[in-house]
Amino acid sequence: MNLKMIKTIKEKIEEECTESTKIIDWFYDTHLLEVEKQANFLLKNLPKADKEVVMLGVWLHDLQRIRGLKGDHQEIGAREAEKVLKEHGYNSDVIKKVKSIILTHSCSNNKPETLEGKILATADAMSHYYNNFFLKIALTGERDINGYKKWVLEKLDRNYYKKIFFNFAKKKIKPRHDLYKKVFSLN
Ligand SMILES: [Fe+2]
Repeated sequence: MNLKMIKTIKEKIEEECTESTKIIDWFYDTHLLEVEKQANFLLKNLPKADKEVVMLGVWLHDLQRIRGLKGDHQEIGAREAEKVLKEHGYNSDVIKKVKSIILTHSCSNNKPETLEGKILATADAMSHYYNNFFLKIALTGERDINGYKKWVLEKLDRNYYKKIFFNFAKKKIKPRHDLYKKVFSLN
């Protein structure tokens, strides 16, 4: 695994996030760095996974959002990731694998089938339980309070039941999940 190249890509994404007017200014710190942290936690427990593919997926999976491009989040994200990976000299095998995990990370149309795909989807879901993610979303004021509560409750269940693929990860998140559910179910 080329650690130096992954660091270069991470720095490029941080720069894009800083300059982007399409995302909230906390996106890099609150979301992407947390996905990295959770992916590392998962990788420690799943040593057979291809770490390089997972880490490239971590940094490139939300490019559609970061670049504010119209169209399907996963498909456009995979297309943009391919461009970045080609620019940085990655071979077609790595590009194919990274694209495939980006294409399933939301678990909306297709579920991930590979270990690396499951790790990315799980890390993405786990990240939402940290750094006051839901509070920060509330503060954007995009939804009225009832719409917001409904959105959070739906997202919590989607995260917990559809995106977290490993029992040990579920166990780690369960106390936070239960607490969030309780708080957002209050009238
Ligand atoms: Fe994400």
